[in-house]
Amino acid sequence: MSGTKRALVTGISGQDGSYLAELLIEKGYEVWGLLRRHSVPENQTSRLDAIGIFSNPNLKLVYGDMTDLPSLIGILKECMPDEVYNLAAQSHVRISFDQPAFTTHADAEGVLNLLEAIKTICPTAKVYQAGSSEMFGNEYDEDGYRRETTPMLPVSPYGCAKLYAYNLCRVYRSSYGMFISNGILFNHESPRRGLNFVTNKIVAGAVDIHKGKINTLALGNLEATRDWGHAKDYVRAMWMMLQHDEPDDFVCAMGEAHSVRDLCEEVFAELDMDYRDYVTQDPRYYRPTELDDLKGDCSKLKDTLGWEPTYTFRTMLEEMVQARL
Ligand code: GDD
Repeated sequence: MSGTKRALVTGISGQDGSYLAELLIEKGYEVWGLLRRHSVPENQTSRLDAIGIFSNPNLKLVYGDMTDLPSLIGILKECMPDEVYNLAAQSHVRISFDQPAFTTHADAEGVLNLLEAIKTICPTAKVYQAGSSEMFGNEYDEDGYRRETTPMLPVSPYGCAKLYAYNLCRVYRSSYGMFISNGILFNHESPRRGLNFVTNKIVAGAVDIHKGKINTLALGNLEATRDWGHAKDYVRAMWMMLQHDEPDDFVCAMGEAHSVRDLCEEVFAELDMDYRDYVTQDPRYYRPTELDDLKGDCSKLKDTLGWEPTYTFRTMLEEMVQARL
């Protein structure tokens, strides 16, 4: 066997998948990516195409789906990975209210499929599961932060599915001795973020207004706060979790809350505009239940693994605005 490590990344076509694939290739891994078939071919690998790694000899893309156990079995048998990063999900919280069953199939049952297949085929593979701060719902500690020990009471179908997966990973870890680590990641953004998530929606809208293409930008709740970091920093945390000598669960966050309104103010100001002249509110973009305030404490990740972010809220937004311009 060669010394090259092999990683399987589900959700490789997403924002995090593309940054993680880049990082792993840079570190000398052979990367296998699970690709779900869509009817629009040009969207399947657009993020990988854009960063020029689509044709990298160390990247192999295979069709499969978290809801299709035979496909997972086939891929794992062929790949026999050292590390598996499960980033595949229906990851939009608002859309999980419209598609609760699909979200549950992909984000919860899909993880059951994956863990069972790994347990049978490659039980010593190290597994990263993408957990989310949505799992906490509106629970937080007395100091206002969420951490690994904070109770979890989700307020969205997405949060419920992610919490099932998180708990299942803990059960497989303790029951079968598998190396499975849960990341509890707070919001993380980048120029590669989908345009229906609020950061890039605001960036794209503000840039289009700046260029005179549109006049207004319709948003939902402006008062909710989120703890926003950069996806590039957060995928490094994922990799670090699997290099640790034991599996564990880690919060990854910046420890700072900003409201959607703050975000609008920053982004529009970056383009010398006042968001109040352009932003409108539309009930379409509100959620039936909302996670009002979100702020994480990632001391465990910093103290145990030495993780530090390289971006701030502001440098991240500057990069996003510049990329969009
Ligand atoms: N998407 C969206 N669109 N959100 C809006 C809008 C809008 O027009 N207007 C206001 N918001 C508010 C939402 O109500 C929410 O409070 C906040 O902006 C952030 O929304 P999103 O960017 O859609 O992210 P999210 O917090 O719901 O979920 C993201 O972060 C989670 C981690 O906490 C996703 O990446 C999840 O997959 C991830 O787990």
